Amino acid sequence: MSTLPRRYGDSTRTLKAATPPAQPGRPVAPGPVPVSAYHLSADESAELDTYGRASNPTWRQLEAGIAELEGAAEALVFGSGMAAVTAALRVLVRPGSVLVVPADGYYQVRRFAAESLAPLGVTVVEADHAEIFEAAERADVVLAETPVNPTLDVVDLHRLARLCRGRGARLIVDNTAATPLAQQPLACGADLVVASATKALSGHSDLLGGYLAASRGELMAALARERLLTGAVLGAFDTWLLLRSLAGAGLRYGRQCANAQALATMLTGHPAVRSVRYPGLPDHPGHSVACAQMQHFGSLVSVELADAAAVHALVARSDLLVASTSFGGMHTSVDRRARWGDPVGDGFARISLGIEDTDDLLADFGRALG
Ligand SMILES: Cc1ncc(COP(=O)(O)O)c(C=O)c1O
Repeated sequence: MSTLPRRYGDSTRTLKAATPPAQPGRPVAPGPVPVSAYHLSADESAELDTYGRASNPTWRQLEAGIAELEGAAEALVFGSGMAAVTAALRVLVRPGSVLVVPADGYYQVRRFAAESLAPLGVTVVEADHAEIFEAAERADVVLAETPVNPTLDVVDLHRLARLCRGRGARLIVDNTAATPLAQQPLACGADLVVASATKALSGHSDLLGGYLAASRGELMAALARERLLTGAVLGAFDTWLLLRSLAGAGLRYGRQCANAQALATMLTGHPAVRSVRYPGLPDHPGHSVACAQMQHFGSLVSVELADAAAVHALVARSDLLVASTSFGGMHTSVDRRARWGDPVGDGFARISLGIEDTDDLLADFGRALG
């Protein structure tokens, strides 16, 4: 796969990232290579694909495309975002390590750290987007999430990376909410990117996947070994579905981000909405940092309504909204985060913008909010 200059737009780049080099006589968009038994040759040192859990051609194409978009030397795909996060943490922490995880981010990450790593002798420190800089002063490994899911606060990645590098700590950044189209954490100084590909990167709400990406090779060799030994793999058909979905990601994500900006603007000051959080709003506390490190402000908007009943009523009155806890898909969806135990109010709703026509969405929200 050739490296595409950054002057190309998102749609050109995602289409190219999902497309193998042209070979006359072969289909433009190939199908999955089933992960079955591979033939072996007599030259035992020269083989690439020997067993599907170690490597296979469908993964390789997807990994090359993701690495291209993340600005990474290499990427590794996993069976889910959590499979990628847990592989990264297992490889980077040791008994005695101090690990910082987001107190305000995706809740199952801190659950894994508390339930699986703390009993092994890892000191787990939970820090929110504001506390993370102080916590990083004493850490060996820092996992940051930005924008934070679900509060959409923004962490200054250049500042955090300088701090971590200065004291030899490893910085992992969860790029799920932003996607590599909006943000490239490695270019900001992170050591490792982790993300769920279940969300906007695949965008069709029909698969689970995850990946890791890094700009240096040694770490990736250890992570590839972890995947091989634990078997946290992405199936060949899901890999292929993800590749096919990636081709349209630039187009989808552009519309999703435009819809998010339009909705956030419309809801600001709406009498039924107590507060609106979106990094693209000029009065968002992280707006200037977002401008410095993001190319898009993302497809998520979080709002605070009066209470849980108001969130349910919004969905019931809307023609377009669906209630769903995943996000990043083509349908605009809403999730009331307090139901999962996130430290937010009862009426806090994370809205994931889809690809519907902007005017239709705004009109529908206007009607449904009353
Ligand atoms: C920020 C973040 N990271 C990681 C994950 C885990 O991804 P997956 O559900 O693909 O395991 C999620 C899931 O919602 C997430 O929101």
